[in-house]
Amino acid sequence: MSGYKTFTMIKPTAVKNGHIGSILDMINNAEFRIVAMKLTKLSYERAEKFYSVHKEKPFYQDLCTFMSSGSIVAAVLEKENAVEAYRKLIGATNPDNAAEGTIRKLYATSLQENAVHGSDSDENAIIEGDFFFSTLEKY
Ligand code: CMP
Repeated sequence: MSGYKTFTMIKPTAVKNGHIGSILDMINNAEFRIVAMKLTKLSYERAEKFYSVHKEKPFYQDLCTFMSSGSIVAAVLEKENAVEAYRKLIGATNPDNAAEGTIRKLYATSLQENAVHGSDSDENAIIEGDFFFSTLEKY
């Protein structure tokens, strides 16, 4: 059965470029409920831990450097079939392949700086949400 939660981060370039409001607007318009949200910054070590599934990939260190380079917005979102619905809203990982009108098509500047992260499974949505938020911070 599909889950109700997903996790997202608005990445440093999208935050620096002033897109927090527009991206949250798209999330609201797509009828996700924001369960938890914070503006924060990852250390390099925390970014390494968050993206540890990619540690063998050639882009891992660059990704961790980028993700710890500035403020991010982390949020847990709720909606029926949330993981798939959110991946549809954000578009393909590589913005060159993202559909028109998706968050990445509108706000990504490159494959690495692709505006937002979205969980790829129900299991990872829970792990990633718990990485940033305690039970008391989720409503
Ligand atoms: P994200 O959804 O945050 O999950 C992992 C991230 O790794 C991905 O978005 C991209 O920012 C980055 N990524 C994935 N593939 C590549 C690649 N081939 N080169 C550089 N960065 C990548």
